[in-house]
Parts: sequence; structure tokens; C-alpha cells
Amino acid sequence: MTIIINMRGIQYKKIKIAARFIREGKLVAFPTETVYGLGADALNEKAVKKIFQAKGRPPDNPLIVHIANFEQLYDLASSIPKEAEILAKKFWPGPLTFVLPKKDSVPLITTGGLDTVAVRMPANEIALSLIKLSERPIAAPSANISGKPSPTSAEHVIDDFYGKIECIIDGGETKIGVESTVLDLTLKPPMLLRPGGLPLEEIERVIGRIRVHPSVKGHIVDIARAPGMKYRHYAPDAQVIVIEGRKDKVHEKIVELIQDYHRKGLKVGVMSTGGFYEADVCIDLGRNSEEVARNLFKALRELDKEGVDVILAEGVEERGLGLAVMNRLKKAAGHRTIILK
Ligand code: TXA
Ligand code: MG
Repeated sequence: MTIIINMRGIQYKKIKIAARFIREGKLVAFPTETVYGLGADALNEKAVKKIFQAKGRPPDNPLIVHIANFEQLYDLASSIPKEAEILAKKFWPGPLTFVLPKKDSVPLITTGGLDTVAVRMPANEIALSLIKLSERPIAAPSANISGKPSPTSAEHVIDDFYGKIECIIDGGETKIGVESTVLDLTLKPPMLLRPGGLPLEEIERVIGRIRVHPSVKGHIVDIARAPGMKYRHYAPDAQVIVIEGRKDKVHEKIVELIQDYHRKGLKVGVMSTGGFYEADVCIDLGRNSEEVARNLFKALRELDKEGVDVILAEGVEERGLGLAVMNRLKKAAGHRTIILK
């Protein structure tokens, strides 16, 4: 049975119920500013195991541990570099995750067998209160079945997990819509492992140049460091094709592709960034990368529900949140990208 807790604003009595579930080793899905998380006590092996089972997640794909104050980091990480302090001061709570050397108290199941741990402090009052009231660090991957788009509303979580987990907190739609930025601080200089809700440029403005893992732009090289990258993510049932380049050329190409697929009798969906297309379904994601990020996963889920065979997606510039958007789009496309010069 799944209890759905409806929350607009902050209602401590209700969060206390969910916090008790966490302490009892049960699963609670909750909103963050990025996407919904599927949470459990990060230090309880049995509880964390349930997350992997519920999601169908490969056991070597590590989880992010969520904390509510900086001091909790000392319980999880065995050493904390200066950059972590500087970046946390500037961006926490917020969509930035650090990878740090782990303490023995963090079970290996939580870190997918790695000797590092990923930690972040989410900028969402419900999430922060849940962590505080449960008095536990909370391990939480995105609350989707492995391989599905991340959930940006409680409805998405209900679609994937109703009847399979103890509790879902409905806190409305998430603000950012793509997951947190993951930064490996065990390396010098630090390395971006996953672009996300905090743009790379903003991090570099504070700590200077950082390296970017090749998987960020779709090159699969050093798998060991970015275990999340080897799995097909955000994979809708339809085939996704990303078309990027000059706006007018992209438009022309998509119009042409729609006609081609229609001739073959296929149902076509388009994800545009401002424009309209005569496709079977056309979803306008928005005019800037913030809007596109917010609407992206919801659109992928909607197009799946519509039963389209092909999804044609207009690319965006890989700047600001655009880097995260393109990373997710390319992954959904299994790296089928048409680049027009
Ligand atoms: O915004 C977010 O980060 C959301 C919300 C719920 O906080 N969570 C999320 O978790 O996206 P998940 O599990 O879907 O993605 C975690 C990513 C994966 O790519 C994983 O491989 C990486 O973080 N990760 C976790 N621990 C790591 C570690 N020790 N070393 C390298 N990568 C790690
Ligand atoms: Mg995920």
C-alpha cells in the first residue's frame, strides 16, 4: 500500500509521518528542486537495497546522499577539500552534488561498491524538513523505474511506483526539471561527471577551470568514474532523434523527416523550442534553456503515453542549462544526433 501525502507549503505533522517511515527503513518518494527522489536511510543497508529493487537499478550505479546541513558531511566524507567548503557556501542548498572519499560508516551498497560517496543538500523545504525530522542522511536516486525519464511531478512517481513503495509526498511540480550537477572533488582539478541544474559556467566562476568527463558530451571512455553513464537513460519507448544546428536548417530538416516518417505510416512527435510543426503531437518546451529543462522529462513521458513511434527533438545550445538538456536528449536518443552545419 502506498500513502500519498498531499503537501502545499510545509506541514510538519505530515512530514513527521514520512520521516518515521525513513527511520523504519521504508521508502519515501519526495520532491526536490530538481526532480523527485526515491529516498531511504542512507546508512541502512536493507533500506537502501529496497531502492535498487524497486527501481530495477543495477547494483553498481551509486546513489546520491542528501543532507540538510553542512556538518552532516563530516559523517559521510573522510576528507573535505577546500573547494567543497567554498562551493557549498555559495551553492548549497542547491542542485550541486559532490563526489568525495567516503567514510566506513557509509555502506558500500549506497555507493555502488565505490570508495567515494556523492552528497548534496537539496533546495526544497519539504526535502530538507524530511531529512531533519528523520535525523538520517537520505539516499535518493531519481524516483523513476530505471531507464524511464526522471519524475518532475508526483503523478510521474505514482505512474512508476504506486503500490510498490510506502509513501509518496506530493509537493507539486519541481522547479528545475533536470537532476543535479555531479562534480568529482577527489580529482585535481575537479571533474564534471554529470551536467545538471547548476551550470558548469557558474562553478567555474567560483573555483576556476574544471575538467569535463567525456561522457558529458556523449563519448563513452572512462566508465569507472561515471558509472551512471553506461546505462541507457531517459529512454522513452519511441525512438528519439536530436537535430541540432542553425535554427532555420533544423526546422527544414524536421519538416522533411516528419513527411518521411508519415509516408512510412509512423506516428511522429516533435519537441520544439518555440516553433510549431504539423506532426501528430507537437510539444513546445519553451524559449530558453531553463524552460526547456523544466518541461523536458514531462514531455518525454507524455509522448510515450501518446504512443508515438518517433520523437524529433530540436537541439539547444550547450551553454548554461543547455549542456544538461542536450546530455539528457542525447542519452534518450542513444546518441542518434543529426548535426546540421
Ligand atoms: O537531482 C538529483 O541529483 C536527483 C535528486 C533526487 O536529488 N537525484 C539523482 O540521482 O539524479 P540518480 O541516482 O538518478 O543519479 C545519481 C548520479 C548517477 O549518475 C550516479 O552514477 C552518480 O550520480 N553518482 C553517485 N555516486 C557517485 C560516485 N560515488 N561517483 C561517481 N558518480 C556517482
Ligand atoms: Mg536517475
